Amino acid sequence: MKTLRLTIAICSLLFALTVSSQTPPPDPTLTDNPVFQKNCAKCHGKTAGGRHFGGPSLISEPATTAPADELRNIIANGKHHMPKYAGKLTPEEINTLVDQIKSPPKK
Ligand code: HEC
Repeated sequence: MKTLRLTIAICSLLFALTVSSQTPPPDPTLTDNPVFQKNCAKCHGKTAGGRHFGGPSLISEPATTAPADELRNIIANGKHHMPKYAGKLTPEEINTLVDQIKSPPKK
């Protein structure tokens, strides 16, 4: 009987761990966001500081001071060489990216 209880205890613990890891809090910074590293880093750089012949910095002005609606629009619909992400990313993923661009890591 004791082992059964222990098994149940371990199972519920594992269950709790999986449930909580399925709903992580939104990533605090842009460069920690796997969506950014997968989709954007190749042009905007792994540190989001921009790349020559790629995309501009997303951790300094004007990107960080641009209105959220404008950033959302650029990410969703593209601009010049910036590809559009509507359909590739969910609106929630785009909103998270916008929030993270607007709150760059404090140094
Ligand atoms: C193929 C290269 C490329 C990829 C991939 C890319 N971008 Fe861009 N991005 C650009 C370029 C180039 C610009 C500059 C557009 C212009 O103004 O001419 C830009 C501009 C932007 C801007 C506007 C910056 C400003 O100062 O106004 C934002 C915001 C942005 N990108 C976010 C993203 C995000 C978020 C992703 C990933 C979902 C991404 N980009 C993926 C190339 C890219």
